[in-house]
Amino acid sequence: LNILFVSSEVEPFAKSGGLADVSSALPRALKNKGVNIKVVMPLYGCVNRERYNIEKCMDSLCVHMGNCEEWFSLYHTIHHGLDIYFIDFEKYFGRQELYHTSQGEFADNPWRFAFFCHAALQVAKDLDFRPNVVHCNDWQTALIPALLKFSGDAFFTSTKSLLTIHNIGYQGVFDTEVLSYAGVPPHQFHSGTFESYGAVNFLKGGIVFSDAVTTVSPTYSREICEPIGSGGLHHVLQDKADRLVGILNGVDYRLWSPSTDPHIPQRYHVYNLQGKQRNKRALQERFGLEVRDNMALFGFVGRFAEQKGLDLLRESIEAAVVNMECQVVVVGSGERHFENFFSALPEKFPGRIGCYIGYSEELAHLVEAGADFFLMPSLYEPCGLNQLYSLAYGTLPIVRETGGLADTVENYDEFTGNGTGFTFREISASALYDTIGWAVSTYYDRPRHIEQMRIRAMKRDFSWDKPARQYKELYAILVNEF
Ligand code: ADP
Ligand code: GLC
Repeated sequence: LNILFVSSEVEPFAKSGGLADVSSALPRALKNKGVNIKVVMPLYGCVNRERYNIEKCMDSLCVHMGNCEEWFSLYHTIHHGLDIYFIDFEKYFGRQELYHTSQGEFADNPWRFAFFCHAALQVAKDLDFRPNVVHCNDWQTALIPALLKFSGDAFFTSTKSLLTIHNIGYQGVFDTEVLSYAGVPPHQFHSGTFESYGAVNFLKGGIVFSDAVTTVSPTYSREICEPIGSGGLHHVLQDKADRLVGILNGVDYRLWSPSTDPHIPQRYHVYNLQGKQRNKRALQERFGLEVRDNMALFGFVGRFAEQKGLDLLRESIEAAVVNMECQVVVVGSGERHFENFFSALPEKFPGRIGCYIGYSEELAHLVEAGADFFLMPSLYEPCGLNQLYSLAYGTLPIVRETGGLADTVENYDEFTGNGTGFTFREISASALYDTIGWAVSTYYDRPRHIEQMRIRAMKRDFSWDKPARQYKELYAILVNEF
């Protein structure tokens, strides 16, 4: 089975969120299952070539984009046994950032990723690698299914396409001026394909033209078929219903295990949870919080985007630390108004709230290891990886029951002490506040239950083995359709 896996970000080379984690761990898990897989991504300026032995392997590749030819070269490395190819095209990918700077989105994103889609297919040809399936991810690669259908290229006659939707909140909607460059013929641009309110919608076209669509949790696969969860694409997805499946993401336990994690001061294990206390102290010290073992500590790590429920946190965090015996650490970056709000809190609530604005792998691990509870009040969450990492670290997630959060976190049952976290449904700051309060009171009044839940959470297995098997089965179904 030959699979070309195309993604705009792959950990550890370039990452903005969970897509990068998945684009690294899933192909590796598939490779372990005997799938012959090659990964293609852009060679952004931020990719560290020396560190990962990324070397040029081919020069002078060419794609026809509208009326022009674009010449690029190809770089390659083998990372933990996996073939990763990098498309080197200075004009589009030479800059440090992936999609935007603090000034906003790059204006040429539609051109950049239209080119990336053409280039990824050209790479397969130049490598003489005939994929049975091209596995595409999100809008940045969603032009590929259409290109395969339009091209009529004999090289791809036995190639199918699979599109995984990681987040329907980002559809790649642009002005139509990119169409001819993207290679979408005028007669293929209409409301049944890429057109959406007069604009080009890359994700929509990808859904229409792909042979199957997956998303990253079963609940999200249902939510995106409803008007409210679909970003306007529910009709398109309903039409695709028999070819749409939700496959839950996994955890790369090589990177996210408290017993082996090199980023944390004290490693620990499900049978030896005392080590977690040392990490808590380190976390409190690192953020200038009062160092107290017996103080409920909440963590948040993530993109500062509306999706993540930061409005709810903004409205409840101050009352929480004033009215409850608890501390909060917030790590993240993104929308400026959230950055401004959260970064001002440590001064307002010294010893009780800590904040780091920016991206820090090390702090993400420290928060997972050191906090008692992990906050994820997302408005919607296709899968969510942080709550899975939290479970592995015995850090009980506080989540809204949506998407992958609903599929992975089991609510606390105060009669039995079962559960792996605390969940709520309503989108409101008071629902979050009450749930934080519920966790705090359980922490102080029922420490046995908290301990029992931590152990239960840490024993949950979300390894990539099962999802990789599901993807492999899906590839096989597609291939057998010929
Ligand atoms: P999303 O992909 O929507 O951002 P996920 O929970 O699937 O959400 O994945 C987020 C990933 O990005 C996790 O690996 C998380 O640790 C990481 N991450 C997000 N923000 C930061 C940050 N500020 N510092 C370090 N890691 C971060
Ligand atoms: C997206 C989603 C997140 C998911 C990740 C990986 O960024 O927001 O929920 O875990 O993709 O699939």
